[in-house]
Amino acid sequence: MKKVYFLLTIAALGINVHGQKTVDQKVAELLSKMTLEEKVGQMVQYSGFEYATGPQQSNSAAVLEEIKKGKVGSMLNVAGADETRAFQKLAQQSRLKIPLLFGQDVIHGYRTTFPVNLGQAASWDLAMIEKSERIAATEASAYGIHWTFAPMVDIARDPRWGRVMEGSGEDTYLGTQIGLARIKGFQGKGLGSLDAVMACAKHFAAYGAAVGGRDYNSVDMSLRQLNETYLSPFKAAAEAGVATFMNSFNDINGIPATANQYIQRALLKGKWNYKGFVVSDWGSIGEMIPHGYSKDANEAAEKAILGGSDMDMESRVYMAELPKLVKEGKIDVRLVDDAAGRILTKKFEMGLFDDPYRFSNEKRQKEQTDNPENRKFGREFGSKSIVLLKNKGNILPLSKSVKTVALIGPFGKETVANHGFWSIAFKDDNQRIISQFDGIKNQLDKNSTLLYAKGCNVDDQDKSMFAEAVETAKKADVVIMTLGEGHDMSGEAKSRSNIGFSGVQEDLLKEIAKTGKPVVLMINAGRPLIFNWAADNIPAITYNWWLGTEAGNSIADVLFGAVNPGGKLPMSFPRTEGQIPIYYNHYNTGRPAKNNTDRNYVSAYIDLDNDPKFPFGYGLSYTDFKYSDMSLSSANLKGNQTLNISVTVSNTGKYDGEEVVQLYIRDLFGKVVRPVKELKGFRKVFIKKGESRKIDFNLTPEDLKFFDDDLNYDWESGEFDMMVGTNSQDVQTKRINWIK
Ligand code: NOJ
Repeated sequence: MKKVYFLLTIAALGINVHGQKTVDQKVAELLSKMTLEEKVGQMVQYSGFEYATGPQQSNSAAVLEEIKKGKVGSMLNVAGADETRAFQKLAQQSRLKIPLLFGQDVIHGYRTTFPVNLGQAASWDLAMIEKSERIAATEASAYGIHWTFAPMVDIARDPRWGRVMEGSGEDTYLGTQIGLARIKGFQGKGLGSLDAVMACAKHFAAYGAAVGGRDYNSVDMSLRQLNETYLSPFKAAAEAGVATFMNSFNDINGIPATANQYIQRALLKGKWNYKGFVVSDWGSIGEMIPHGYSKDANEAAEKAILGGSDMDMESRVYMAELPKLVKEGKIDVRLVDDAAGRILTKKFEMGLFDDPYRFSNEKRQKEQTDNPENRKFGREFGSKSIVLLKNKGNILPLSKSVKTVALIGPFGKETVANHGFWSIAFKDDNQRIISQFDGIKNQLDKNSTLLYAKGCNVDDQDKSMFAEAVETAKKADVVIMTLGEGHDMSGEAKSRSNIGFSGVQEDLLKEIAKTGKPVVLMINAGRPLIFNWAADNIPAITYNWWLGTEAGNSIADVLFGAVNPGGKLPMSFPRTEGQIPIYYNHYNTGRPAKNNTDRNYVSAYIDLDNDPKFPFGYGLSYTDFKYSDMSLSSANLKGNQTLNISVTVSNTGKYDGEEVVQLYIRDLFGKVVRPVKELKGFRKVFIKKGESRKIDFNLTPEDLKFFDDDLNYDWESGEFDMMVGTNSQDVQTKRINWIK
């Protein structure tokens, strides 16, 4: 007992059992030596000068001087052992020598790029996703980076929004699991390890629900919906120890997220007891002026700190306004202490006070540049992200000895495009990316011929290359078309109102199809596209997203069958833009349409089916999977029991393969209406041809909880449907009764 009291006493003093000071005590001591300006300085972040990821207001000479005066806490877009060291040296000239934090958007890989995030989500492979972030963290930290602005855990139900490529799609459960895997991957063995970077859950919050899918647009929704669908992945991230949060550009129900006391103070730092810090998004504090929420920079700074924003990314208002606000008594200095303290805590945890240059190491940087092991993983990950949408007549996989193959389309010989949107570390380093042409060429037999024709540009009306493409197709035994949208047509500020293939690509496809040659279509995109004609007329279609450094090899592995595709869609694919927003976990309404032909006084369009072209969770394989023997441990449960749901999945086709077995539930009646389906579990399993596997899921009442109208999070007694299947539409159902 005495020992416990002793431990409690020294913990209260901020000293650990070994007599060393705790981080809290070190922070408190440091804060006590800092001037107000120095404290606010910690809350300031500028972008480096070589490139910007937002509308930069550069005054580089002044920024360098500020660093020397201890008036800058962090830089983003400063990377590389040499550059980070040079900046850190300036910080070491400041009075208290407080090191800088270097942040960067390490979004889908760093030196080795991986599939865009939505493509990664299509793998439904949490272990691979975690490993990809482990690699990204190892590479980025070797380049002197301490902190990535990832994962983006915004749920998004609108494919017009360009940033769907950076998230995990429309589902809260899947998005949460993937977010957690990413955080684990980034933060590795914990902050302070040389190969760990601080992760950042962004964008807090509801950025993915922008009205009309237009980036930066407003969000208006019930707090119930906000908590249940959009905030859950953030809460899970906070509980998992994500080092930082970034808030979002949008307003939520009229209050910009950046100054939103409900989400940042009441929830994040209050109820969730989050101890990390919150960085604003680029310029989002200053943007409260055009939002019409702050009349000037002074008021923006005041509202942002009251709202819980700890660090000002490139608004440049904290340093200009906060010291004044404190001196005038409008802001309590304890709020500044709290914000600066949270930031300093991370610097201590990262070991930067022991050695500010510990991440700036040329030797490690060299080892992590073009690392063959990482590339090998990237190749595998790329192939696991591909979703097979159609394979009529089993055209795929192709034989390597097809005599003549034609690759046609604007992306065939592209290199950089394969990176997708966020390829920060790669700007002028194209050669190391495997083009689709090279990947296919490398795997075709020596005696076979690979022809190529571009056919058209990505996004214009020029059809002058069509004739050559048609002639090329005529010479081939099989044609591989590579179409989609430009790699820079999804991402930040890349909303599209029309999400078909850009330019004249669909016309090109129609011309090629007229040749009568067998056509395999590969679609490159950062979002779900609409391609009804292709879906109805082209026999084989793979959805390739953007696959990263090893794209060409990953693609060829799938085309020629070295890898049997097993990806599943993480978003519903609409038939037309008119169906958007479209998501599988909608409510039933009072007048549900029973099928696509039933349009009489029901919730339907008179000119369009309700269901998507391809549903959430959909994806084929070269083999066939059969589901049988779904069984429940009990149909009547009570209290805190566990329900076991099992199903047998048999591989009845000709290839070994992976299947994502999905579990959905429906709560039939509630005090608020519940979705027609909710994903509650999934298992990605490898099953050899001719073999079967029994798959088990266990559910507890925790999995039945939801937010009611008063924001209580609980479950209710009643009937529930348990559904197991290969996608959100194709399921087997059994009903249970579960009482409290
Ligand atoms: C703005 C983006 O919204 C955010 O996600 C990103 O991290 C910052 N710019 C920094 O580049």
